Amino acid sequence: MPSFARHVFVCINERPEDHPKGSCKHRGGVEVRDALKSELKKIGLGKTVRANNAGCLDQCEAGVTVVVYPEQVWYGHVTVADVSEIISSHIVGGVPVARLLLPDQPVHGALPTINSRPAPARGA
Ligand code: FES
Repeated sequence: MPSFARHVFVCINERPEDHPKGSCKHRGGVEVRDALKSELKKIGLGKTVRANNAGCLDQCEAGVTVVVYPEQVWYGHVTVADVSEIISSHIVGGVPVARLLLPDQPVHGALPTINSRPAPARGA
């Protein structure tokens, strides 16, 4: 079974275009997820940090909604343009991106950091 240091859940829930709550899919959830996957792979974290699809995370008005586990850091209004900063600051550096945080975050302590350099090849 794979062992991931973090899971990054991205809401890709879809509702009809005229639904009053809107939906993250129509705000670019799929593109945000794809950018996360691509960027994580590019910096050698594709097997350490998993970007997952999520259904509605009940923060629809703030979509695209993203939550990072295990630390339970919630982001709102995330776009593809924010992905690099979330990865470099939060995932790698352990510092959440303050400007994207949703209010009323669960209480958490210091965040772990992750070495983004790919593991050396076996026998190297
Ligand atoms: S539709 Fe994304 S949080 Fe509800």
